[in-house]
Amino acid sequence: MKVGEKEFRSIWQDESDPATVNVIDQRRLPFSFEVLPLRSVSDVCMAISCMAVRGAPLIGAAAAWGVWFSFLEHKGDKNIFGGIMKDAARLKGARPTAVNLAWAVDRMTEVYEKTASGEALHAAAAGLCDEEAERSKRIGEYGLGLIEEISSRKGGLPVNILTHCNAGWLACVDYGTALAPVYLAHDKGLRVHVWVDETRPRNQGGRLTAWELSNHGVPCTLVTDNAGGHLMQTGMVDIVIVGCDRATASGDVANKIGTYLKALAAHDNGIPFYSAFPVSTFDMTIDSPGQIMIEERDGDEVRKTDGLAVNNSGKRLPAETLHATSPQADIQSVYICQPGIPVSNYGFDVTPARLITGLITDRGVCAANKESIKKILS
Ligand code: MRU
Repeated sequence: MKVGEKEFRSIWQDESDPATVNVIDQRRLPFSFEVLPLRSVSDVCMAISCMAVRGAPLIGAAAAWGVWFSFLEHKGDKNIFGGIMKDAARLKGARPTAVNLAWAVDRMTEVYEKTASGEALHAAAAGLCDEEAERSKRIGEYGLGLIEEISSRKGGLPVNILTHCNAGWLACVDYGTALAPVYLAHDKGLRVHVWVDETRPRNQGGRLTAWELSNHGVPCTLVTDNAGGHLMQTGMVDIVIVGCDRATASGDVANKIGTYLKALAAHDNGIPFYSAFPVSTFDMTIDSPGQIMIEERDGDEVRKTDGLAVNNSGKRLPAETLHATSPQADIQSVYICQPGIPVSNYGFDVTPARLITGLITDRGVCAANKESIKKILS
């Protein structure tokens, strides 16, 4: 997708230094667009766990490059495969909920097991990124039909879509999952408007989704996480589309904490609720919500928030007034409650299949049940 006049993916190999893989540092957006170079397995693990890179498909893509770094780090060793497998476990452990991470790492280690070739690993990591972008595009094409149908029912009036967290191109390699149909609809000239949930505690909606959409010219409005129910109850939402980090064989969907509440409100108000994801997000080894491991994160994510320091007229504060050591020092962290207060910080929740109207995948749209999922995967 474009940032300014330049085409970007969320992850790419550095042209001038092929031993570097660049990502957009998502901790700095929307205040500062910064590229973060990754050069080692440790860099990748750190970027995933501190959420400089995040979103299920993107952490899989980053981990794939991580396995290639592992090969470079162990190249001269007697037991290269042993070293790679140890690093693979570290990469998989960086975040537990999104299945795409383990899926991508396993795919890479299988390539190495079969070929014992660094070149093959490199090609596999690059190929995985290309495929991920292609899969997102297909999700967009399948989801577009749903938006077109609502648009024609509304006689061309704007289709109001509510989304939670960030399941756009920043979370994937390109296009996004939940947002891919929105981009395609907008580019086709359909009138769309997106309600963007803030998504506490890390504000991926306010910081990333709103930035992505407005950057692409898609009309959007930021709302607090608690507003969705009211919007749905008063007829202001036509469809809810969210992403997914792990889907069970029965069609239950783990996604950013708060997704379940949106699904309940949608169900109560008869509003279609869809989850969009590539089929690599299915975990066919499990078939009930309780089997998904839910990540618990540092309590300070809840106690504090990051934001831009401004003066009373809303202007950025000059770095020198902030005793700055870096030009971006005006992005600051502040406590929003009593420091040290006990906190629980579950990163995800699971929306049971019964609340889901359908799953938008790269193989088509299917119902959230075992039979339809099996069919789409066959
Ligand atoms: O914790 P995050 O920001 O990685 O969570 C991301 C989400 O919950 C997304 O909705 C999900 O990964 C789908 S990404 C296309």
